[in-house]
Amino acid sequence: MKKILGFAGSLRQSSYNRAILHAAAASIPVVYEYEEFDLGVLPLYNDDHATDELIPDTVRDFREKITTADGVLIASPEYNYSITGVLKNALDWAATNKIGNVLSGKPIAIMGASKTVFGTTRGQLHLRQVLQGANGHVLRKPEVYVRQAKNLMDSNGKLADEKTIAKINELVAAFLLHMERDV
Ligand code: FNR
Repeated sequence: MKKILGFAGSLRQSSYNRAILHAAAASIPVVYEYEEFDLGVLPLYNDDHATDELIPDTVRDFREKITTADGVLIASPEYNYSITGVLKNALDWAATNKIGNVLSGKPIAIMGASKTVFGTTRGQLHLRQVLQGANGHVLRKPEVYVRQAKNLMDSNGKLADEKTIAKINELVAAFLLHMERDV
């Protein structure tokens, strides 16, 4: 069974990015196994611990999950025109050359939600740059920028806007093709 690993660049309980990740997960066909990883369990990157002996267990687990996944789906906020420290930290653990870059050649799809009208446009450009450094195979289109996300959620914090859900479904469909072609 093909596997997709998803993670959000926000640790906030009512994160809009986790909400759009869940909307994406809901449109992944059941023939795929989907798992979400909570980046909050990862310690701050320490190059001294990036060794086979000293690597923290949670990092080992995260890296193994990326390795066995056929594709990685990322939803991240934009913080100060870039990606969040939480996400950058996780990507550094995943891509460190000291113990092997597990993102290299991995099919990846990205999206983002913000409170503002910018919808993470600047953050996603930075994310593409970081993933280029990690040699990730990032899906180019469609781009999903979820603007003023607060207005698109229902009272339970679930994404409720039909247009946004349709756009996310488009991204997932393109990502599944990207994963198939990229092997
Ligand atoms: C933000 N936010 C923000 N929004 C944006 O569109 N561009 C930005 O540069 C920033 N910068 C920024 C920095 C910091 C430190 C915080 C805490 C927030 C607002 C951001 O869009 C909002 O907090 C979202 O709700 C974050 O996504 P989650 O946590 O809901 O997934």
